[in-house]
Amino acid sequence: MKFPQNFIEEVKYRNKIEDVISSYVNLKRAGSNYQGVCPFHSEKTPSFTVFPNTETFHCFGCGAGGDVISFIMRAENLEYPGAIEFLAKRAGLQMPETGESGETVKRTRYYEMNREAARFFNRCLSLPEAEEARKYLASRGLSPAAVKRFGLGFAPNSFDALRRHMHNLGYGDEELKTAFLCGKSERTGNYFDYFRGRIIFPIIDNFSNVVAFGGRALGDGKPKYLNSSDTPVFKKSRTLFALNFARNACAESLILCEGYMDVIAVNMAGFPNAVATLGTALTTEQARIMAKYTKKVILSYDSDDAGVAAAKRAIPILTDAGLEVKMIRMEGAKDPDEFIRKYGPVRFKTLLDDSRNKMDYLCDAVLKKYNILIPEEKIKAAEELCAMLCEIYSDVEREIYLMRICERISIDPQNMKRDVARQMRLRQKKENDDMKRKIVSESLGYGDRVNRDFVKNAKAARAEEAIIGILLLRPEFTADIRKGKISLAEDDFITEFGKRVFSALVSFEGHFDIGILSETFSQDEVSRIVKMQVDRNKLTRNDLSVLLDHIRTLKNESAYRPSDDALDDIKNLINKKKK
Ligand code: UTP
Ligand code: MN
Repeated sequence: MKFPQNFIEEVKYRNKIEDVISSYVNLKRAGSNYQGVCPFHSEKTPSFTVFPNTETFHCFGCGAGGDVISFIMRAENLEYPGAIEFLAKRAGLQMPETGESGETVKRTRYYEMNREAARFFNRCLSLPEAEEARKYLASRGLSPAAVKRFGLGFAPNSFDALRRHMHNLGYGDEELKTAFLCGKSERTGNYFDYFRGRIIFPIIDNFSNVVAFGGRALGDGKPKYLNSSDTPVFKKSRTLFALNFARNACAESLILCEGYMDVIAVNMAGFPNAVATLGTALTTEQARIMAKYTKKVILSYDSDDAGVAAAKRAIPILTDAGLEVKMIRMEGAKDPDEFIRKYGPVRFKTLLDDSRNKMDYLCDAVLKKYNILIPEEKIKAAEELCAMLCEIYSDVEREIYLMRICERISIDPQNMKRDVARQMRLRQKKENDDMKRKIVSESLGYGDRVNRDFVKNAKAARAEEAIIGILLLRPEFTADIRKGKISLAEDDFITEFGKRVFSALVSFEGHFDIGILSETFSQDEVSRIVKMQVDRNKLTRNDLSVLLDHIRTLKNESAYRPSDDALDDIKNLINKKKK
């Protein structure tokens, strides 16, 4: 049975992989991922990893991998349709034939509920009891125009003001709780307003639906911000605050800030192209969404250590999504909001115009950490800068930054060049050794069951895996291949497995999802495909030049391969000789 693609998407959307898997595996957070003991092979140290960003899992021990659908296929021992049905049931979704319209009705109800709540909060801002809130807004420089544009509001300091209002409109406690408008006390079982005594920031999607809220305490209340968690109409990791304005701004860049207040300040200063994540680190999904609207992102994170650390984590996520990244250098203020209040919009524009690229920014961060007048510290700084230079893929780019860096810390470029070259050789050697070890263990041990042709031409097979990994992470390249902008065909692939995966990839016109592969590929095969993606994800560069390099390698390898006819000739000759 073939399921409609949007149904599969809906099923996956409602079944967050980390939630589903955590009812089978005890997961612990590890950075942006989760780790646990693998349920598919026996182990003591956890090597089973869930990647919420790509919605996949992979076990570094046994190699099992896939998406939430293939996890359920394995864990519940179900076929593909059974797993879909299992997950649909888990999320309370109707199977397609029996009508999905019920679903649409439910979504619409949540949108309407949120809109009513937003109206209520907004009206409350004019009530006498909101005096303090209005003073607070004024003290933060938020004009009535800003309040109007962003639909800001005030949640009264009461346990049931919103709840009573929503009851009157016919909404029930359970659905209010699901929408994160109400909470429920575990002790007493009573429902209460989730946001109380807070300034309310509605979060609006691209279709002008109110999907969630952020609420700021007045003054020093704790927590400073309270945000809705995920609901049937809101997924935090796929939402950006103010994208509804920014995407219409048709600007050549998006300005990515840390917080609500920054976005509003930047907006009101005349830059409608500002967005922010919602109190969590930037996700791959958010980066991909930004890449739909722009080619360039100007990072305007806070200038404190936390902001610099967050920017460093955001850079590879953005570049991996194909975005050019620039960073503003903000001095004399903690964040864009404060900067604009202190120095005004014109100087903020100068900041944007003078924004630096990633290497200059990272170099600044290193130089800020060390006092290069002290020899020991200068050595440490040089080591870190050397490591940064090794990461640069293009020779020309590396040379340019090397010269610039050496000038800044006054080191002889020739010496730095030698150090960088040595480091890069070491890295290359380690990579080659790893590959040899892998090939030997695979051909000596049980062999490569998934890709039998791997050992025949390991170099080509490795290039194939890199290409597929990049295509999985960067679907727009697959689109370019389909359009012929990038020349790569099934025939360029050497291994049968590579050919099959590639043709599956290019044959999907719409949004490609690994889950779809579970229909036609075996579980071992899906595991292998996910591993290709995981392997690439660990590397810093997944851009066009890297992809083209791998394609070149693959094509060179296949050029040297004798054709099937030639092989037949050779076989014939051997047979004749034998006679
Ligand atoms: P900041 O602490 O930098 O706040 O957090 P801010 O945006 O500068 O806010 P003001 O200027 O003090 O009002 C940045 C973002 O992190 C999230 C919010 O989305 C905030 O905008 N955050 C912060 C939370 O979700 N919860 C918190 O308790 C604090
Ligand atoms: Mn701030």
